[in-house]
Amino acid sequence: MISENVELKPYTTFGISAIAKKFAAFSSVQELRTILGENDHKELLILGGGSNVLFTSDFDGLVLHNTIKGFQVMHETETEIWLKSGAGEVWHDLVMHCIANDFGGIENLSLIPGSVGASPMQNIGAYGVEIKDVFIELEALHISSGELHTFKKDDCQFGYRESIFKREKKGEYIITSVTFALTKKQHAINTKYGAIEEQLKQMGVSSPSIQDISNAVIAIRSSKLPDPKKIGNAGSFFKNPVVDKEVLSKIQNSHENVPHYPAPNNKIKLAAGWLIDQAGWKGKTFDDFGVHKNQALVLVNYGNCSGKEILNLSERIIEDISNKFGVRLEREVNII
Ligand code: FAD
Ligand code: EPU
Repeated sequence: MISENVELKPYTTFGISAIAKKFAAFSSVQELRTILGENDHKELLILGGGSNVLFTSDFDGLVLHNTIKGFQVMHETETEIWLKSGAGEVWHDLVMHCIANDFGGIENLSLIPGSVGASPMQNIGAYGVEIKDVFIELEALHISSGELHTFKKDDCQFGYRESIFKREKKGEYIITSVTFALTKKQHAINTKYGAIEEQLKQMGVSSPSIQDISNAVIAIRSSKLPDPKKIGNAGSFFKNPVVDKEVLSKIQNSHENVPHYPAPNNKIKLAAGWLIDQAGWKGKTFDDFGVHKNQALVLVNYGNCSGKEILNLSERIIEDISNKFGVRLEREVNII
């Protein structure tokens, strides 16, 4: 059923007011096709958990809210299982389902908000794992033809917070399911992200299970990131910038301890949160919005700010970081 003039605030983690001219939820591919058949789809937006979007105005089109549920085993051996998930499943519910069944591979991605269907959009990642590491394929409805297409890993062109669906195929597809390969035994326990080892030590765990890893990740995340139920936000507002070695050397001249990590093609990844923090933005508050006090990469809505205010703040931060460090930050959040 298509509703009109729907308030989107409850459908996003920023909790910012915006009105959708039309709004419909779909729980199956068939229902999706019916809705699309009844509409000329000029202005379309797919919404999962709304945890990576910022509305800067009302939406003069149709918002489609994905609620396709269900898990299905596609293939199984003694050591591995391929699990297909409906795109409207909550990501963290999938993680919990896997841990409860002792399926390994996505425990480091515990507590990331949002839907399974959005996870390939930016190849979600945290604590040393990205979904590309366990990805088999996805199914997506091609909006203009109504056909269901399958994308294998190479088709998706995954990168750091990137995929083909954010670039060449932007706006062309609605992801309806995603299939992951998970381990049933001898899980590849990944503690290479320093904070996990420290957390495990504090928890008194020396030989961690996937459940322990999940618990450690949840504890770290809860201590650093604001809970969207309490403070509106969309996680990291910017991507960590990937730069040439010369850019790092210049920053090191004045800041010896700048955190940096190796990136593909002989590049260096800098920590945007550190740059913003060093520039003095951390914890800054303006009226009803600001930069979070524990994580400078997270812009927050303390109540009733507008999307434009957050966007303007992000512009000021981008300019300041560019002037101070010669690095141009890119937004991670999708601006609508
Ligand atoms: P939405 O916000 O609903 O949509 C995001 C984009 O994907 C939009 O452009 C939308 O149109 C499109 N889209 C959504 N579903 C579909 C679909 N089925 N088919 C086609 N297009 C679709 N991200 C990380 O990678 N790592 C983190 O550690 C992390 N931590 C976070 C912590 C917090 C507190 C918050 C609020 C966010 C965090 N994020 C993180 C960002 C966010 O959780 C992810 O980007 C998540 O995948 C977004 O899912 P969603 O369903 O909410 O997407
Ligand atoms: N830092 C500061 N000040 C800050 C924030 C960070 O100095 O205010 C420093 C930290 O001390 C550390 C470095 O910056 O040396 C990196 O910080 P952290 O480990 O907290 O991770 P991040 O780079 O800020 C990234 C992802 C997160 C993901 C975590 C864990 C991006 C854009 N962000 O954050 O993803 O959860 O690593 O893997 O890649 C998201 O995408 O929304 C998100 C939350």
